[in-house]
Amino acid sequence: MNLTENDVFQKCFDYERLEQVKKSGLYPYFIPLSGHVGAEMKIEGHSIIMLGSNNYLGLTDHPRVMESAKDAIDKYGTGCTGSRFLNGTLDLHIELERRLAEFLDKEMAITFSTGFQSNMGVISTIAGRNDIIYLDRLDHASIIDGSRMSYGRVLKYRHNDHEHLRYMLENNRKHPGVIVTDGVFSMEGDLADIPGLVEISKEFGVRLIVDDAHGVGAMGPRGRGTAEHFGCHEDVDILVGTFSKSFACVGGFAAGPARVMEYIKHTARTMIFSASLPPAAVATVIAALDVLEQEPELVSRSHSAAERARQGLASMGYNVGNSEAPIVPIIVGDEVQTLLFWKSLYQEGVFTNPVVSPAVASGGEMLRTSYMATHTDAMIDRALETFEKCGKALGII
Ligand SMILES: Cc1ncc(COP(=O)(O)O)c(C=O)c1O
Repeated sequence: MNLTENDVFQKCFDYERLEQVKKSGLYPYFIPLSGHVGAEMKIEGHSIIMLGSNNYLGLTDHPRVMESAKDAIDKYGTGCTGSRFLNGTLDLHIELERRLAEFLDKEMAITFSTGFQSNMGVISTIAGRNDIIYLDRLDHASIIDGSRMSYGRVLKYRHNDHEHLRYMLENNRKHPGVIVTDGVFSMEGDLADIPGLVEISKEFGVRLIVDDAHGVGAMGPRGRGTAEHFGCHEDVDILVGTFSKSFACVGGFAAGPARVMEYIKHTARTMIFSASLPPAAVATVIAALDVLEQEPELVSRSHSAAERARQGLASMGYNVGNSEAPIVPIIVGDEVQTLLFWKSLYQEGVFTNPVVSPAVASGGEMLRTSYMATHTDAMIDRALETFEKCGKALGII
């Protein structure tokens, strides 16, 4: 391809990192999976223990969930071909929103086509010109981008550092404000101190939004998320979440006071200018919610699997961070070592996710492992044997 002078495509040709990693044989991304996505599955023809998904409840191949999706296609067809606002609202969407509001004990819930769009839509409509958005520095990209899309001013406090947050709030008392945090931080699996944030939000008269993408369906006695885990579920003003993890599908939601949800529903650009969730997806999520409500013990099962792995890895000498969710990071601290470790595990039948800069700060490179209710002790033990073998061969432990 010929480039012109001052070509906007120039940057694509200057981007050499990708080629370098591909040449080294350590390129770990966009791997095609074939067959059912589950605790153990086929990838590139061989069997592998999946420790790299967010399928915490293991519902992606649950017979009842799959059946609901098929029935919805039979009844409604494959897509809605329009936004919720106009032609894209089915009775199924309304049912899901009612069920979610009930489950989460919030006045009203609204659904979006992705979790990313949920954060973008909620934050960009709630934070106006004179408002300040207080973000944890490790908040998810969708929170950052939603904040950028708003007219509000963004201030970032150091990760979980409430002194830093208080300092910012003290200096901006005249401005309406909103704190937005992940409930479970997605890479390392550590939790936001939600009770502390609730206290601060009340003291300073600002609102609290929790994006609990990795918490709803994975934390709390009933699976209602990180705030439920801490016993302060009702004190969160808006709870945002996704269907792309515990709910085994795709899509997202926000839940909170009816007046606020109605406002977002009628003004959020990511709601109004994007097509609605297809029927099979909505039916999947309703069925997943049925399963979660009837079998809340699935949440603790994913934690037991994670705990078995966490203890096994720590006893081998791995640095497993401070996770309290069904996510266990293995902090390696070097990019090349992380990629080599990932590759040897993959070749030996264990799928993990390598996390390198800029997703984590340099020196924090790690493998992210995550656990499902459907991982058996035998699977975890087999994975642990592989971690020991590969880690020793590479001198990581
Ligand atoms: C904390 C957090 N928020 C939001 C999202 C976006 O969710 P979705 O995959 O539904 O777009 C993710 C997904 O990675 C996430 O980890």
